[in-house]
Amino acid sequence: MTETGRHVGILGTGSYLPEKVLTNADLERMVDTTDEWITTRTGIKERRIAADDETASDMGAAAARNALANASIGPDSIDMIIVATITPDNYFPSTACLLQHKLGISDVPSFDLSAACSGFIYGVSVAKQFIRSGHAEHVLVVASEKLSAITDWSDRSTCILFGDGAGAAVLGPVDNGGILGEHLGSDGSGGDLLYCRATASRVNGPHGVSPVAVNTLQMQGNVLFKHAVRLMTDAALTVIKPLGIKTDDIKLIIPHQANIRILNAVGKKLGIDAETQLYLNLEKRGNMSAASTAIALAEAVEEGRVEKGDIILLDAFGGGLTWGAMVIQW
Ligand code: UT7
Repeated sequence: MTETGRHVGILGTGSYLPEKVLTNADLERMVDTTDEWITTRTGIKERRIAADDETASDMGAAAARNALANASIGPDSIDMIIVATITPDNYFPSTACLLQHKLGISDVPSFDLSAACSGFIYGVSVAKQFIRSGHAEHVLVVASEKLSAITDWSDRSTCILFGDGAGAAVLGPVDNGGILGEHLGSDGSGGDLLYCRATASRVNGPHGVSPVAVNTLQMQGNVLFKHAVRLMTDAALTVIKPLGIKTDDIKLIIPHQANIRILNAVGKKLGIDAETQLYLNLEKRGNMSAASTAIALAEAVEEGRVEKGDIILLDAFGGGLTWGAMVIQW
């Protein structure tokens, strides 16, 4: 879908990472694995783990404060809050309502959005529609995950992948550029490839006290791998082609950080120069589901890798199955 009319862009981004670092060496002491296996098969060296009493709304609120400060927008100018998460504080109330209260905002619509690793792109897309139609001026989109709470810490095929953290973006009208187009998709027939039957991040501790598989994330990694490469490539091409954008025009692809091998394969299919055009932070962050793309964007901006006028591409794939790609002119 391409856009005409009121331009909507990202006015500021922010992120938050919990203090505790879990390294591959730590994991070697927990399950039958090696730093060498994790590094070569995933590209991940370490990830952050939230404190026992730290929830998705706590981390999300911290990221949101950074995004508001970077956007120079006060909390009272926000008129909608969307939180993308698969690890909400509770079944209800929504993490968005809890986060709203923590930010001292009241009376604005706030809701959670469940699209797994594609959640941030879905959230930004929803926010854009409200602003573009004139139903909102400034929307706060937060992606926050405490995946450690739903990780089976005895399952070496999954526990080496995930980390905790939050990213946020403030959206509003811009004079030109902004979100040029996006493509969202889902395929529920792949729902059994990656799921958690139940979740409540306030209940489960970070180190696998989940008593039964029902409370932890289950994944068929190698089947998902192939879907990820295909769907992230297709999503990227589907969004750039109608815009007349070539991969050379893209300053930076900021993808969901699932696996270095997935990202290199997508980069190869798109014909980009991975060294300069692919933003990676998974080595130190792991896979943080919805928060991955949001944090990667915030970090890329902070590092000066995204400057005014640059064309960037967000690209994600995850449980659902869901996928999404979005072109933004910064
Ligand atoms: O976030 C969005 C969605 N997520 C994804 O898209 C994840 C996609 N999948 C992946 O990233 C990869 O499939 C994994 C990293 C999860 C696994 O890598 P793989 O190369 O697909 O390995 P595999 O599952 O095919 O397993 C290969 C071998 C197996 O041993 P055998 O059967 O060949 O003897 C596993 O038991 O590696 C073994 N293995 C491990 N060995 C050491 C699995 N996990 C580990 C481990 N350490 N942590």
